[in-house]
Amino acid sequence: MLILSCSSKLRLLEGTLRRHLPDTLLVYGTMMTINRGNPTAQEVLVDSWPEFKVVLTRPRREVASDDSDLFTNTYTVYSRDLGDYQALLASAGAVNWGQSFCILGLQDGVYEAYKDIAEAKGIKLEVFRYFNYFHPDPSSMPEIRSVLDPAMRLSSLDVSHADLLNETWSFGGNEKSRKYLATLIRHFPSFCLLDSAGHPVSWIASYPFHALGPGYTLPQHRRHGYMGMLNNLLAKRLHALGYPSYGYVDVENYPMQRLQEKQGFQHQPNLWYFILHNPALVNAPTLTPRPVPGTAPT
Ligand SMILES: CC(C)(COP(=O)(O)OP(=O)(O)OC[C@H]1O[C@@H](n2cnc3c(N)ncnc32)[C@H](O)[C@@H]1OP(=O)(O)O)[C@@H](O)C(=O)NCCC(=O)NCCS
Repeated sequence: MLILSCSSKLRLLEGTLRRHLPDTLLVYGTMMTINRGNPTAQEVLVDSWPEFKVVLTRPRREVASDDSDLFTNTYTVYSRDLGDYQALLASAGAVNWGQSFCILGLQDGVYEAYKDIAEAKGIKLEVFRYFNYFHPDPSSMPEIRSVLDPAMRLSSLDVSHADLLNETWSFGGNEKSRKYLATLIRHFPSFCLLDSAGHPVSWIASYPFHALGPGYTLPQHRRHGYMGMLNNLLAKRLHALGYPSYGYVDVENYPMQRLQEKQGFQHQPNLWYFILHNPALVNAPTLTPRPVPGTAPT
């Protein structure tokens, strides 16, 4: 196991991962964040260098100071060999087994490989599977004509909106999730629509691994094309900045799936795995998505 800290190696790794998109999404998006200022203080581990089969990104020790903060303690993984992935996970210091953390990966088998090790340690796990959508060329997305009534204004999210996002995000509802959402708003591209009083009615942010989301439209404002417009704008903005355009959608969220497909996002054959590690010794909040106001598709 090696921690890559040399900037030329990090740039080289980014270039190699780019050639293997969309399989390398998540780690590639995180690498871009690291190589462009690293606002969320991530670091990169590989099984070997310059030939590698596994890449794991994780928060640096100094930011992962809260053992129960599943949001800050988020890892992303890309693995071409599950045996090497298991070996990396098992090597001393790769993963902080004393913490609650979340591993995000796209390769089939990343959950099973991890589960074997966690079970041998008697560790409690949860896994969530989502559909993975990727747009190969957002510049070809159709122009969205404005759907705004004259009183509405297009803007980006502001940190003062973090409470609203926290109330409506299916993983939100606590202080750690509020802090995480404020970090997204502060450092990563977002769009929102404000009503005449300046309150957001529809919004979409982006993650440190540059996936689209969280997105939400207040129930009384749905089916006006707002999310279609914001999703389109954010995909194009991320593309213009050089980032890939992709995101995860709940397997039962048919409106969001239809919306993605109408805009040319391709449903990828592999799933998106959220693997949550809650060691019994830590009184950790669960990250199980909770019902939020107006979540049920209508
Ligand atoms: C999913 C959600 C964001 C859609 O927001 P919205 O502003 O209503 O979306 P739009 O009006 O732009 O709809 C765009 C397309 O989505 C689909 N769609 C949206 N709502 C739908 C619904 N209730 N039923 C069926 N299709 C729907 C349609 O394809 C629609 O286009 P069409 O009406 O021209 O056929 C909104 O329902 C929501 O906030 N849900 C709860 C949170 C959530 O699921 N967030 C996404 C997480 S990935």
